[in-house]
Amino acid sequence: MKSRAARSPSGVKGPRAEICNGILIRPCHGIEEFKACIKVERAVWKSADIDVVPIPLFVIASETGGQVIGAFHGRNVVGFTMAIAGWRDRKPFLHSHMTAVLDRYRDCGIGRRLKLFQREDALARGISLIEWTFDPLIAKNAYFNLMRLGAVARRYLPNAYGITTSPLHAALPTDRLVAEWHLRSPRVRRMLAGKHATPVFSKKAARISIAANLEDTKRSDPAKAVRRQSEIRAQFMRLLGKGYAATAVAPNQSGVDYILEPWKEP
Ligand SMILES: CC(C)(COP(=O)(O)OP(=O)(O)OC[C@H]1O[C@@H](n2cnc3c(N)ncnc32)[C@H](O)[C@@H]1OP(=O)(O)O)[C@@H](O)C(=O)NCCC(=O)NCCS
Repeated sequence: MKSRAARSPSGVKGPRAEICNGILIRPCHGIEEFKACIKVERAVWKSADIDVVPIPLFVIASETGGQVIGAFHGRNVVGFTMAIAGWRDRKPFLHSHMTAVLDRYRDCGIGRRLKLFQREDALARGISLIEWTFDPLIAKNAYFNLMRLGAVARRYLPNAYGITTSPLHAALPTDRLVAEWHLRSPRVRRMLAGKHATPVFSKKAARISIAANLEDTKRSDPAKAVRRQSEIRAQFMRLLGKGYAATAVAPNQSGVDYILEPWKEP
């Protein structure tokens, strides 16, 4: 993982400071801003047209209780998050379908600011759960979701979206963990306050290892990546099936370990 030392609570230091600190996060309005989000979507996922989430869905998300939130550098959208409204356990929740930041704007806190804005907006409307899916093989996303935002994962969806045209997915089955972000939970409040330095795990905790270079393996040796993905899928399905939840990731010598614990409460 890259060093995060260049960051401070007051913002980004160093040569990128001007760009990173000059970003405004706000809801997007109107077709032109939705088109600008789709430009980011295309730049990040590089999918063929059939896999691109189109303008009407952005309109529907923003008109039916979902969210389209942009990160603006001047008039340009450089990142966005988009969620649709859902209904779970007799309560409204948000399903956050896409969050993306343009490559050259990454690692300076924009993704985190988008998610925090998303949380505040949801809470202000009485919504206390946001879910989204993420690729368990991408350690950065796992760290962001579990360790920085305080989400947990209890469900694993094998090949959730089928094989897509996005080079980001490298023609692998789109296996996904479902992140549950229980916005008011003590765990989330603790994580957002940065109090995750010395977590105490259950004695029954189990680990699943992900090699740091798996992202490269997807491209250099797809057959090996598929084999490794199947092994990881089997491990997740077994533990989640026994009532465990993925609650943390910890660095190991060659990548990261997911920590799974018997699930008690959000
Ligand atoms: C996921 C994504 C939106 C994050 O955006 P970002 O602006 O780079 O994120 P941030 O700079 O706010 O970093 C968020 C957290 O990710 C983690 N992180 C960031 N860069 C990292 C790196 N190089 N290595 C490991 N962890 C890293 C950190 O936990 C960081 O929080 P912290 O700095 O407070 O510790 C961005 O990487 C992206 O667009 N990825 C491609 C699309 C995607 O996978 N979307 C998510 C699934 S829909």
